[in-house]
Amino acid sequence: MTERFDRAAQNWDKGDMRTSIANAVFQTITSRIALLTHMDILDFGCGTGLLSFKVAPMVRSVTGVDLSEKMLEQLEAKNTPSLRVVPLCQDIVHHPLERQFHGIVSSMAIHHVEDTAALFKTFRSCLKRDGFLAIADLEAEDGTFHSHGNEGVCHWGFDRDALRTTIEDAGFGNVRFHTAYTVEKEGKNYPVFLVTAMKL
Ligand SMILES: C[S@@+](CC[C@H](N)C(=O)[O-])C[C@H]1O[C@@H](n2cnc3c(N)ncnc32)[C@H](O)[C@@H]1O
Repeated sequence: MTERFDRAAQNWDKGDMRTSIANAVFQTITSRIALLTHMDILDFGCGTGLLSFKVAPMVRSVTGVDLSEKMLEQLEAKNTPSLRVVPLCQDIVHHPLERQFHGIVSSMAIHHVEDTAALFKTFRSCLKRDGFLAIADLEAEDGTFHSHGNEGVCHWGFDRDALRTTIEDAGFGNVRFHTAYTVEKEGKNYPVFLVTAMKL
């Protein structure tokens, strides 16, 4: 899976679809959650930082965690003295973070993680009291979204009810789904949801 993203890293930001999804996810997050200047935010599966750099001007810090060093290199190249995202190459499910955040955002990454229940338990442990989740991914699809094949794809999107149960079981409340965007390609529609939740 990591190799797939290492290979894609250099041209990642050239994809209009990726930028459009990240922009729409960011707009949906800000319409639902107040991002505040005292907040430290984690972007899970940040890639090149398409979402992270949108969030960064609004908060105190953004840490972007990813398993692909090449994606993180692209992210680092965008850092400036006035706008910075902290890159972190770490498998946080198996090697938990020692610090906690006010919120976790993510766009199009969680379908690459096999054990969704373990991931959301990890998210809970990474959050401060009253911390929030704002996680975007594909609605359940038929396996055709990734036109270059499903290498490293662990879930063909997510069923909302099943994911809600997983998130609640991990210790979150106030779980709400919103439609953030719809990808149209090859005559098909692939809706992208944003799910928000609060740590209980
Ligand atoms: C489809 S890309 C999305 C990247 C970025 N969020 C965006 O919207 O452009 C998925 C990203 O998740 C990362 N990823 C997959 N599994 C991961 C894991 N267990 N921990 C951290 N990052 C992971 C991949 O390396 C990849 O950069």
